[in-house]
Amino acid sequence: MSSNDIQVDVSLYGSPDGGRTPNRPEPEDQSDLLPNLTPSRSASGNLPGDLEPIRQHWEQRGRKYGLSPSVSWVDETMLHREGIILASFISEGERVLDAGCANGYTTLQLARMKAVRITGVDYAPSMIEHANLNLNRAGPLKGSVLFRVGNFLNLDFPTASFDKVITKRCMINLGNTDHQKAALLEAYRVLKPGGLFLISEVSVQSANHLNQLRQRLGLQTMTPLWHNCYLDEKELFSFAEPYFELKKIKRFSSTYYVLTWVLYPLFVRSGRRNYRSWYHRLSANLPQFGDYGLQKLYILQKR
Ligand SMILES: C[S@@+](CC[C@H](N)C(=O)[O-])C[C@H]1O[C@@H](n2cnc3c(N)ncnc32)[C@H](O)[C@@H]1O
Repeated sequence: MSSNDIQVDVSLYGSPDGGRTPNRPEPEDQSDLLPNLTPSRSASGNLPGDLEPIRQHWEQRGRKYGLSPSVSWVDETMLHREGIILASFISEGERVLDAGCANGYTTLQLARMKAVRITGVDYAPSMIEHANLNLNRAGPLKGSVLFRVGNFLNLDFPTASFDKVITKRCMINLGNTDHQKAALLEAYRVLKPGGLFLISEVSVQSANHLNQLRQRLGLQTMTPLWHNCYLDEKELFSFAEPYFELKKIKRFSSTYYVLTWVLYPLFVRSGRRNYRSWYHRLSANLPQFGDYGLQKLYILQKR
């Protein structure tokens, strides 16, 4: 990292049964259609060994932040906005998987808005413990919610179980492109034919666009945290081609990033950033222009 770089937290930036539906016939096994990207497993479980430090990071963060939405992203304004955008691609009555749900903020937000049957999985037990506490305190929900410990790379759900699979910044925590491809294949497997894979993540290309704009205006470049591996849109979506059709890219955070990660640092040079300020909330709700948002929603449909 050069001295001209700043690190950006986009983690911000950075089971047992429960998902099986009785009386539903087991769908056709599609495993023979999939290339073998099975990663080597750690001795302690079904997680690839190279991902264990990242899992420990999230486990600790889950304990530290408890019930707070900031457990996954300190930018609570954009976190909330992102959930609203996602909800527009989810219909009443659907069965939804939230992969890498952390302490359940978005899972519960969606269940508040829609009468869905939604399951949140996360590989960090502390996250699921707090997700269940958040569920107990959630008040009335339109949908039903289940949280369980699980690994996105090896989901414990039958083939074709879900209408929608969501990943919000979970794929950028998978260490490398091969694991991201493996997660994409797991999403493919558990989705029903025609189901949508809703990917709200940061890509290398998005980060480059934003950094080019920042550099032109004399600002430092932003680099990912150690545990983040941004998606390479080109590589991932050309790999996805036989399995999914890329239906749409929703650039929901471009205006926000220009206003809060370009103009704001130009004009507000001191003080702690307040993500809940009127400025951030207004910026999140303005119409979109350009392609400068780190966070984008990719809508993929299972073929
Ligand atoms: C940046 S947080 C995002 C949380 C949530 N999706 C949100 O948007 O608020 C990433 C989450 O993914 C989880 N995660 C990362 N890799 C995972 C995996 N292989 N299986 C399940 N969960 C995973 C982490 O424990 C963490 O809670």
